[in-house]
Amino acid sequence: MLKVAIIGLGAIGQRLIKNFTEHPEMEIVAVCDPLEELLNDTVQALGGIQGFADYKELLEKAEIDLVYVAVPPKFHFQIVSDCIAKQKHVLCEKPLANSLEEAESLYKQAKEKGVIHAMNFPLNYSVGNATFASYIKKGYIGNLRRLELKMHFPQWPRAWQQNDWVGRREQGGFVLEVGVHWIQQIQKIFGPVQLVHRNISFPEDASLSENGILAVLELADGTPLFIDGISQIAGKEEVTFTAYGTEGTLALHNWSDLYGGKLDNDLEKLEENTPVSSLIDELAKALQNKDADLPDFYDGYQAQVVLEGLRN
Ligand SMILES: NC(=O)c1ccc[n+]([C@@H]2O[C@H](COP(=O)([O-])OP(=O)(O)OC[C@H]3O[C@@H](n4cnc5c(N)ncnc54)[C@H](O)[C@@H]3O)[C@@H](O)[C@H]2O)c1
Repeated sequence: MLKVAIIGLGAIGQRLIKNFTEHPEMEIVAVCDPLEELLNDTVQALGGIQGFADYKELLEKAEIDLVYVAVPPKFHFQIVSDCIAKQKHVLCEKPLANSLEEAESLYKQAKEKGVIHAMNFPLNYSVGNATFASYIKKGYIGNLRRLELKMHFPQWPRAWQQNDWVGRREQGGFVLEVGVHWIQQIQKIFGPVQLVHRNISFPEDASLSENGILAVLELADGTPLFIDGISQIAGKEEVTFTAYGTEGTLALHNWSDLYGGKLDNDLEKLEENTPVSSLIDELAKALQNKDADLPDFYDGYQAQVVLEGLRN
């Protein structure tokens, strides 16, 4: 069995606990969170495994193959650095870090120590997103004319994600929390992107995260990518990614629902049928020295370059 430790047992930590537990080759052997009740409940739910309030103690005492780091962004750098220094393989939550310097350093540290350095970007395991990519590759839309990312949130933070950081400028905001998923996907499918112009707005309280962004970026061949993000608005939440081409349009509505149409037609729901792997399956392969398809810290760093350009 491959032995896994989890540092950070909040919203996403709990989600991945389920995925690790369901995998036949993975075993969670230790967990860590300074919140005592959360730690104890998680330890009990996992059958009385080792629990630590201090991740340094976990790294000292637990025998592990992989550490999954699921703490808020500003803590990624120190914790992941310490894991790498202990020669542990790491799965890190997105964004890789909370600044470009930190992200670059983590990538370099991981490379130098030769550990597996994976990122959790879940859109890579979505059938809708994979089918979108395969339609693009098949040339369904002809030549690409424009990409557009729309992120509209009636309320940010969203009702289900109330914590002390995701609505704050220091390490939160929808550009960081939601936008970075799409930056990674865009770089994977369409190659490098560069920031041309951005207009970002903040509420009066300067400690809160952005409430609007309009940005223009370019692919290497000059094709524009337009980002339209706004929060605290009337209406429904909308996260849509669209590719406009000379022969048609493809769109992912609500993150992963694929729609498409040829010129002169309406968009219609397309069948999503491209097979995908799972993060945990790919991690298991990597840990067994098999070829694995995992976004890594280099991808995390590349996404951070664009993210920091957008938010700073
Ligand atoms: N990949 C995804 O789809 C996805 C979705 C949501 C969040 N995230 C990312 O996951 C990370 C965590 O987000 P969340 O929504 O679960 O946050 P959260 O606030 O719900 O949970 C974070 C947990 O980390 C714990 N923590 C803080 N400092 C710690 C430390 N030093 N040692 C151990 N535990 C510590 C907190 O007590 C808390 O329980 C963030 O980087 C976020 O951007 C990713």
